[in-house]
Amino acid sequence: MTTAAGKPVNGHANALNGNHEHVSAWHQPGPAAYDFRSDTMTTPTLSMLHAISNTTLLDDVVLEDPTTNALEAHVASLTGHEAALLVMSGTMGNQVALRTHLVSPPFSVLCDHRCHIVNYEAGGLSMISGAQTLPLVPSNGHHLTLEDIQAHAVISDDVHACPTAVISLENTLNGTVNPLSNLREISTWARSHGIKMHLDGARIWEVASSTHPNAAGSLSDFCNLFDSVSLCFSKGLGAPIHLSSSAANPSSNAAASARC
Ligand SMILES: Cc1ncc(COP(=O)(O)O)c(C=O)c1O
Repeated sequence: MTTAAGKPVNGHANALNGNHEHVSAWHQPGPAAYDFRSDTMTTPTLSMLHAISNTTLLDDVVLEDPTTNALEAHVASLTGHEAALLVMSGTMGNQVALRTHLVSPPFSVLCDHRCHIVNYEAGGLSMISGAQTLPLVPSNGHHLTLEDIQAHAVISDDVHACPTAVISLENTLNGTVNPLSNLREISTWARSHGIKMHLDGARIWEVASSTHPNAAGSLSDFCNLFDSVSLCFSKGLGAPIHLSSSAANPSSNAAASARC
């Protein structure tokens, strides 16, 4: 295996040089260390290899794997939600969470027009959940506000309507922060209308650890405003996995079914 410049990468260098001393690729900065195309270019670290080799190997479907159970419990406690579910990718986290909210068609999902679920999930929402999307352009050019949402959400029992069942927001979105105070307003309004709130929080860690005034709030401050949150360990963090957390246990059981 070679780099674009034709140089052997990682442990392959030794083998190709006739030196058979084993140097694991995990011991060196991975190929993602200098790849700035996206934080999705991410390489597992040596400590992750140790974690993998020390993991338990019991069955997660019957909830008997201690490592998975501990990780899910840890994420549930970080987010302030009742339960979390291990899934294999960010796309899967979003789709599983949204599927659990979308139970009685017809329904629509309101979101920002730039979001991942509309642009980069292969139309999964229409295929898997049969939902219509309502992608909005923020009137302030930055993030959706309650006014944007009130102007477009469908709240109607008219037989011709496709009511808004979920507001799905992404934070960060293309590196921008949707402020906590704004999300609080949207969440309060959504809940008063029986509309579920989903957060694509692939990078919510970065919002919660930011010092920007818009981001002032802890992880659980943000997550508590949502009925489900999808959190990613693979964006610059090196893990090939993802967790979806849910505010209430019943929907977590539904999420486990949707994951199947
Ligand atoms: C905001 C956001 N959500 C979800 C995903 C999907 O993650 P995955 O590639 O693990 O399916 C990405 C991937 O880049 C993302 O940027």
